[in-house]
Amino acid sequence: EAPKEYEYLKVSNPKPGVGLITLNRPKALNALFTPLFHELNAALKNLDATPSVGAIVLTGSPKAFAAGADIKEMKDLTFSTAYGTDFIELWTATLTTIKKPIIAAVNGYALGGGCELAMMADIMYTSAGATLGQPEIKLGTIPGAGGSQRLTKAIGKSKAMEIILTGENFSGKHAAEWGLAAKCFETPEECLEGALGTAEKIAGYSRIAVKAAKEVVNKSQDLGVREGVEFERRVFHGLFGSKDQKIAGMGAFAAKQKPEWSHE
Ligand code: CAA
Repeated sequence: EAPKEYEYLKVSNPKPGVGLITLNRPKALNALFTPLFHELNAALKNLDATPSVGAIVLTGSPKAFAAGADIKEMKDLTFSTAYGTDFIELWTATLTTIKKPIIAAVNGYALGGGCELAMMADIMYTSAGATLGQPEIKLGTIPGAGGSQRLTKAIGKSKAMEIILTGENFSGKHAAEWGLAAKCFETPEECLEGALGTAEKIAGYSRIAVKAAKEVVNKSQDLGVREGVEFERRVFHGLFGSKDQKIAGMGAFAAKQKPEWSHE
């Protein structure tokens, strides 16, 4: 059973079907460290298991989504402990495996692990003034939470290489222009509202179809096109067995009625 009160995050339900997780470690600009991930993972599992929730929004403050991995936690970490505990595996363990869609609303700093956290979400929204980047090179290290892979897949090798090798930041506006973010908003408030609105829309569809859609899109990151298309078709065929496709979706369309999803 996950704790109801968290020290480093807030969980709320601001719109029907939407779970909102707000990172809340303001003194360290939401720097990411192990205790925060224990809480984040518990909160994500909880929302994933809550039937009334159809989509999740992950955000920080207007000043910082997350200013990176906690440099103070890492500075004395030895190779043996990092390797022995598989340091950072905990960060991706839940976020990249839960079944409900996660939208990251990125405002303020999203640097290093903060940028990587945003890239683990299914959809990223930014505000124009957000500051993203992979500055690890300036600390004598490299991205360790998937940045070199996810950034490269999203925006291509040359630009990702430039960002990672120079450690130069980029804006929320650029993130959207390059396709890393799906949308860019003028203000942090609009960014969060936009994310909540999209989450509410997704939560209004069949949970079964949403789960399947997320699963097949994510497969494209790991499979070649041929295997990916075959996988998609099998899942598509599987949905002919769901009540939501048969009755609520296609049945209602043919009868000119509104769909009433049973999520079955
Ligand atoms: N780790 C630990 N503490 C951090 C932090 C981080 N990544 N980022 C900010 N903080 C702390 C600061 O130490 C400071 O704490 P104190 O008040 O106790 O000194 C507090 O948050 C506020 O920060 P600043 O005073 O620096 O605020 P600013 O507005 O002047 O600057 C900033 C903001 C440009 C984001 C600056 O804080 C900064 O450069 N942070 C580090 C960014 C960074 O290098 N991130 C990558 C980390 S490595 C990584 O993430 C590895 C990986 O791939 C997993």
